[in-house]
Amino acid sequence: MLRTRIRAGTVAGVVISLVLAAALSAVQSFELFIDGWTPALGETTAVTLRVPYGPRIVRNQYSGGSNISYEHTRIIIPAGTLLSEQNQDHRAAVAYESNRRPPRSTRIIAYGVIDFTLGMLLTAYLRRFGQNRVRLLRTQIGLFAAMLVMSLVVKLMLLFTGLPEFWVPVAALPLWVSLAFDRRTAFLVSLVLAFVASSFLRFDLLLLTVVLVRGMAASLLFLDRKHPRQMVPAGAMAGLFACGLFTAISVVFEGTFDVVSDLSQPGRSMLVANFGGGLMAGALALLLRDAAERLLGAVSRDKLLDLTDLEQPLLQKMAREAPGSWEHSRAMANLAEAAASAVGADALLVRAGAYYHDLGKTVQPKYFVENLSPGEESPHEELEPEVSADAIMAHVVSGAKILREGGIPEPVVEFAYTHHGTQVVEYFWHKCLNAGNPKGLTEEHFRYPGMKPQTKETAILMLVDSIEAASRTIDPPEREKFEEMIQRIIFTKLRNGQLDESGLSVADLRTLVTRMSDTLVNMFHHRIRYPWQDQRRISAQQALPSSPSLASIAVRGTLPSAPPSVPEGRGPPSGPSESGSTPPRDREPPPSIIIGPPLSLVPSPPSVPPSQESAAPSTAPSIPHKKS
Ligand SMILES: [Fe+2]
Ligand SMILES: [Fe+2]
Repeated sequence: MLRTRIRAGTVAGVVISLVLAAALSAVQSFELFIDGWTPALGETTAVTLRVPYGPRIVRNQYSGGSNISYEHTRIIIPAGTLLSEQNQDHRAAVAYESNRRPPRSTRIIAYGVIDFTLGMLLTAYLRRFGQNRVRLLRTQIGLFAAMLVMSLVVKLMLLFTGLPEFWVPVAALPLWVSLAFDRRTAFLVSLVLAFVASSFLRFDLLLLTVVLVRGMAASLLFLDRKHPRQMVPAGAMAGLFACGLFTAISVVFEGTFDVVSDLSQPGRSMLVANFGGGLMAGALALLLRDAAERLLGAVSRDKLLDLTDLEQPLLQKMAREAPGSWEHSRAMANLAEAAASAVGADALLVRAGAYYHDLGKTVQPKYFVENLSPGEESPHEELEPEVSADAIMAHVVSGAKILREGGIPEPVVEFAYTHHGTQVVEYFWHKCLNAGNPKGLTEEHFRYPGMKPQTKETAILMLVDSIEAASRTIDPPEREKFEEMIQRIIFTKLRNGQLDESGLSVADLRTLVTRMSDTLVNMFHHRIRYPWQDQRRISAQQALPSSPSLASIAVRGTLPSAPPSVPEGRGPPSGPSESGSTPPRDREPPPSIIIGPPLSLVPSPPSVPPSQESAAPSTAPSIPHKKS
């Protein structure tokens, strides 16, 4: 399947929430269905018994029950304890458990309603306000699966350890979400997890508060996503916050909290548990981050660094079989990485996407102009326009196929089938029209079979695919000309609706123009010529005919000719991937070859070459320039 980036809609949200509610209800109540786990006085308990924190009226047995006191307590009776009738806590625990058994369908349904509501809130938020990647069905399924696994871990800890409930390492999941996506999503995940974890102890208010604050604090304090090791101190700091909050709430309920007495028994200490739970969450998040990121549908930084190693077999295959396309990809990588980091997108992911996006060209490299040797005839000369367009468009599908077979993670494969979006291969469409369109074809026959970019990262690569190639035609390489060219390309993509689903804001586009212009100016800056270069230049000029206009004619004879329906200079610039659909005669000569000062190979104006894409307006609206 080409398109795996399906957005979760309302129906998907309802289905996911229903499945989550059913699964969580099972986790919340399954122990009630196991007869051997029913506690009884005089017997040994098979699982840990917990009575949630709350108010209790305690009678003083030595005063004949006349003296009663109002206390807030929690009871934890570890598994394997012999339940004594004389022990007040044991009696209270057995009474609490007998209230839960036998399991009532109404109570289970009530839990299901609460879980379903939480699921709906989370899916609705992700669908409407989440960043683009968390709107994907794949991501939401992964996120809910991770929440379910975390809930099961919490339940098993509560059942089979005698540790205070604050040891639960729930903050690991918000840390993973911060690492893979963003903090806003992590906050909401913290909220939902806090309700779920506390529901195991009848919505224990203290547990809910601690889990919520620890999750939010951990994701807030995890500042540098490039260094996952920071998850450990972030978790520990969140644990310290939880200690402070726990102490304050305890004082509110009980009037006092004895820190020394609490710390004197580390195994039962609430403060140690509050801190330890945060630290453990950070350590767990660090250790299992690769598996967690895979579950969430993201690619780890280590994996991306590995993928961008130029020794990778697939990259070597491309360098060997489609060298022109490989050089184009490498040039794009630098430009795209700088652009992505300027708008807070994942720069390393974009670099990986740039390297792999055109791998489909290795199937039939000669169909792409950048892979033809000088003077080599293009196979398109002999083909019908629609056949040529099919051959060009095939690189999107075959690229995705090769990458998946090569085990490349889906977020990188996504670049292969979104970098042309759903644009039309304009050159061959116009060629077809100019030939009279004898088969009565429509634009749809010439439309790429991919999908529009769904993330900022893929949208940036789509823009850079065009900008990188067009930048080679800008002469002289001045900032204003680069800006104009970039604005034209962005406007053309906007007009065609290609950026509609990308999540790029107008502010992002303005930043992209500034940053890419800066990068291009630096890439194309002039160097001072060596004396021997000056000497050769003078010799070359002397060898030319005396009239510069003749030289100009000779050189300009190799310039591209625009398709008649696309006025020269009005079409947006085309990247080599797009120009791949252009026969060799339309190939731009390298702009660095200058025969004498007045003989620039690229006419200026226009600064933009003809393209097979749809024509851009001659006066593209200007995106305000932001000073950097
Ligand atoms: Fe391409
Ligand atoms: Fe490309």
